[in-house]
Amino acid sequence: MTEATPFTIHALELGPMENFVYLIEDRASGRAAVVDPAWDVPAVLALAAAHGVRVSDILLTHSHYDHINGIEEVLRGHDAQLHLLKDEARFWGSGLDLPTLHHGGDHIALGETDIEILHTPGHTPGSACYRLADQLITGDTLFVFGCGRCDLRGGDPEQMFHTLNDMRHKLPAETVILPGHNYAEKQRSTLAEQVEGNPFMHFDDVNRFTQYRMHYHDKHRHGPYGPVSKGQEMPD
Ligand SMILES: [Fe+2]
Repeated sequence: MTEATPFTIHALELGPMENFVYLIEDRASGRAAVVDPAWDVPAVLALAAAHGVRVSDILLTHSHYDHINGIEEVLRGHDAQLHLLKDEARFWGSGLDLPTLHHGGDHIALGETDIEILHTPGHTPGSACYRLADQLITGDTLFVFGCGRCDLRGGDPEQMFHTLNDMRHKLPAETVILPGHNYAEKQRSTLAEQVEGNPFMHFDDVNRFTQYRMHYHDKHRHGPYGPVSKGQEMPD
């Protein structure tokens, strides 16, 4: 992040599934947004307090339990507005109180900080990524040297293929990737590094991508995700 950005993004790794919870701080307004509040809400709120910011918003990348299990605890102490994509709300079917439902391409203003919400289906139908200047919070869509599973309810490897292709072609190479889990040998990366070393970004053929995502990747992986050379994803 450069001096020119009005925000700071803080990362906390929480819970048994190595989730990253992000706190976006808008320095001018003293507002903050929590992305995917889960597991240890007191730790998130202590971080906000340490920076002197007020949690005014909650942003969801998707509705899986490990990303949402702290929402109610945040809402008990803060009059925060909940944001998610309409497609995810429809998929989730939860009776949440008055969330703001977005379409892909919408922008959220957190004080002086502009947050663009991208619709990135594949892991779930309404999965979202949040873009702030050159930073991209990717949830379970794109991991460092990995991507989200597509075999759970609502998952779709064909959609994931198109989502990752769109990211590869439409976002600047220097975009910083902030994933939803700490599954890799490093905590963050750039899009350029992922295009080079993320096996899920190597496929031009949707059927081979699907084969790799659904039947190969996690069965042949040991230890944290690391770079894979193009052409070395799986045997022909
Ligand atoms: Fe998930």
